Amino acid sequence: MRRYLVAGNWKMNLGPAAGRSLAAAVAGSLKGRKLRGDVLVCPPFVTIPAVAAAADGNPLLLGAQNCGDQDGGAFTGEIAPSMLKEAGVSYVIIGHSERRQYQREDDDLLVRKINLLHAAGLKAIFCYGELLAERKAGREREVVRAQLEGVLPRLQYADPYNTVLAYEPVWAIGTGETATPEQAQQMHAWSREVAGRLLGEQPAASLRILYGGSCKASNALDLFSRPDVDGGLIGGASLKVEDFVGIVDGAEASRD
Ligand code: 13P
Repeated sequence: MRRYLVAGNWKMNLGPAAGRSLAAAVAGSLKGRKLRGDVLVCPPFVTIPAVAAAADGNPLLLGAQNCGDQDGGAFTGEIAPSMLKEAGVSYVIIGHSERRQYQREDDDLLVRKINLLHAAGLKAIFCYGELLAERKAGREREVVRAQLEGVLPRLQYADPYNTVLAYEPVWAIGTGETATPEQAQQMHAWSREVAGRLLGEQPAASLRILYGGSCKASNALDLFSRPDVDGGLIGGASLKVEDFVGIVDGAEASRD
């Protein structure tokens, strides 16, 4: 069975002081527990060292929300994957819909970033998902297939260990409207089928596919109990210790 992954995407929230205290509280409540999955928080860049210190010695993994597409040099304002690795990061979120929308990130850029972070020994959480208008037009499967086809075959080092997919329907992000467990399962099964064609059946069967979009403690168990839903990428509910740990509890219960 695939290990679940519960990943908190803090987005542009929590500076070093607030991030340290949330990470310490999350780490404290996970301490000593034998988890059947992985728990990750992805703070803003400047908060990473404080979270690394707070999580030290605890089963709380550290991620980043983005990285540069070059591994150093004259690229003002960018952060190289190898620097993130040095700071204790193990996962990087790539292709989040907010970056696709506001920073105009396209497939070519996402491919460059993932190849580079893989080469630095980091794992990618690759986000994709349809817009509301696309779902209303019945095009969600076609859109998701195109997003996966645009990136997965061009990854040089991808394997089920260093690559995680995150299906995030854009209409569910930050809206309070969660995909139903049936909708999530349908899209995850479809993603796995498409990934199977692109990467091979065996790797696709081991690939973890997270659900993201208004995931909370009250719906985590139901979502994560579906056969192709291997955990969640959590926005708003990752910012409060009881909400986030409640989602981890849901993930644990889904493995009972
Ligand atoms: P919300 O959980 O706030 O809907 O955000 C989801 C998300 O974008 C995680 O990356």
